[in-house]
Amino acid sequence: MTTDTLAMEIKRVEASRIHEVDFDNLVFGRHYSDHMFVADYINGEWTNLQIVPYANLSLSPATAALHYGQAIFEGMKAYKNEAGEPLMFRPLDNWARFNKSATRMCMPEVPEEIFMGGLTELLRTDAAWIPTAPDTSLYIRPYMFSTDAYIGVRPSDTYKFIIFTSPVGKYYSKPPRVKVEQHYIRAAEGGVGFAKCAGNYGGSLYPAKLAQQQGYDQIIWTDARDHEYVEESGTMNVMFFMDGKLVTPATSDTILNGVTRKSIVDIARHWGVPVEERKVAVKEIIDALKEGRLEAAFGAGTAVVVSPFGVIGFEGTDYELPAVTEDSFVSRVKNFLTDLRTGKTEDPFGWVVKA
Ligand code: COI
Repeated sequence: MTTDTLAMEIKRVEASRIHEVDFDNLVFGRHYSDHMFVADYINGEWTNLQIVPYANLSLSPATAALHYGQAIFEGMKAYKNEAGEPLMFRPLDNWARFNKSATRMCMPEVPEEIFMGGLTELLRTDAAWIPTAPDTSLYIRPYMFSTDAYIGVRPSDTYKFIIFTSPVGKYYSKPPRVKVEQHYIRAAEGGVGFAKCAGNYGGSLYPAKLAQQQGYDQIIWTDARDHEYVEESGTMNVMFFMDGKLVTPATSDTILNGVTRKSIVDIARHWGVPVEERKVAVKEIIDALKEGRLEAAFGAGTAVVVSPFGVIGFEGTDYELPAVTEDSFVSRVKNFLTDLRTGKTEDPFGWVVKA
């Protein structure tokens, strides 16, 4: 694919804001780089492709997305190699998932050359914003929303596709305490659980707030019918290392097909570690924990990377998880992923792409 032929207007900032950011104390999602990529879907085609200064949008109060939630997004990260070149990780996987979400939400697909062309040009333009300290990266947020100024309920005719970026540090500063949710649900079969649509996150906030009031950081969602099987956690897929195996819920139409999740599965298989992608009962995990067979339970996602849980709360009891050691699977896979993404190690999978 070549993006050189993509007609794109580039308007650069007059003065960068980069000096306003304390790169030694980056928190997640507070600062935005100088530019963003914008494209409009009008009359059945993508047009007005631009790199412009990061700025507020001007929208009609009747903008359809604000009322009926036709809005989807992706999360990606860019790193730099030792030569200072911007690196992306499996960007085509995010592009493919974005379009899957778009189809489910009755939105137009974004062609590969626009997604990749916009992304590449934005990363080249704002390469100085890619941090290099341990546990930092440039978080990338591609998203699309409906823009018709119309409040009848129907798919919009017009859309905006935007990509902006944000230099970030760790998502969680300490191992999260997670609560197994047995009342509220995130997704049901036939719904939109597999799509990265805004409403999935909006709907999770109230149960998460209740869990936070009980001293937890996040929820582990269970299946909508019986609350018996683990689905995923707030912003991440859930994985377990037990009995010498990597065990994780199989993806389905209620679980997001996470890029970090599937990368960890592939790495484990590459290393000869047994992997089970299947239904995972909550009780099975608690039993393994009580019997000392559970080495780790962790979240996997773009934002959190690999985040071992500190505590699992289930039916009123808090179960402490063992501390993660340097030679554990979790530490090894986290370090390997970081080394791959920063070009420090040979990439046997062809996942790392230069911007
Ligand atoms: C990501 O990992 O990119 C996510 O989607 C999490 C985000 C909602 C903070």
